[in-house]
Amino acid sequence: MEDLVRAALDARSRAYCPYSGYAVGAALLGSDGQVWTGCNVENVSYGATVCAERTALVTMVAAGERRWRTLAVATRDGGTPCGVCLQVLAEFCEDPATATVVCLDEEGAGPTRTFLELFPFAFRTDLGQT
Ligand code: THU
Repeated sequence: MEDLVRAALDARSRAYCPYSGYAVGAALLGSDGQVWTGCNVENVSYGATVCAERTALVTMVAAGERRWRTLAVATRDGGTPCGVCLQVLAEFCEDPATATVVCLDEEGAGPTRTFLELFPFAFRTDLGQT
């Protein structure tokens, strides 16, 4: 966990956020033990901004890993992942009941929650709803 915290804080230092000034770093621990990082990358066309969590996840999947088990997110105030990121993270979560997410502030401190606690109702298409 210490390595993951350090990786998230380090990734945050590379955030490109000239419009919001809100730097975010993310570090994912993949099932095979490798760490994948990302930062938010903003754009002058604001909606084209990519969050740190999705940057890390897309990097992981593009490298061939399909499952993550721990996520560390670093912000100035311990912010939690946004709804879009939660949905994208759900797609590749090893086990929502045991996967953990730690949301760090600038001191590298913050609560740890399971992914299921953070996002109990991910969208899915196999519920038989009409
Ligand atoms: N942001 C993230 O990187 N992750 C989130 O889960 C929420 C928001 C970024 C997007 C934008 O660059 C900045 O934080 C302010 O919204």
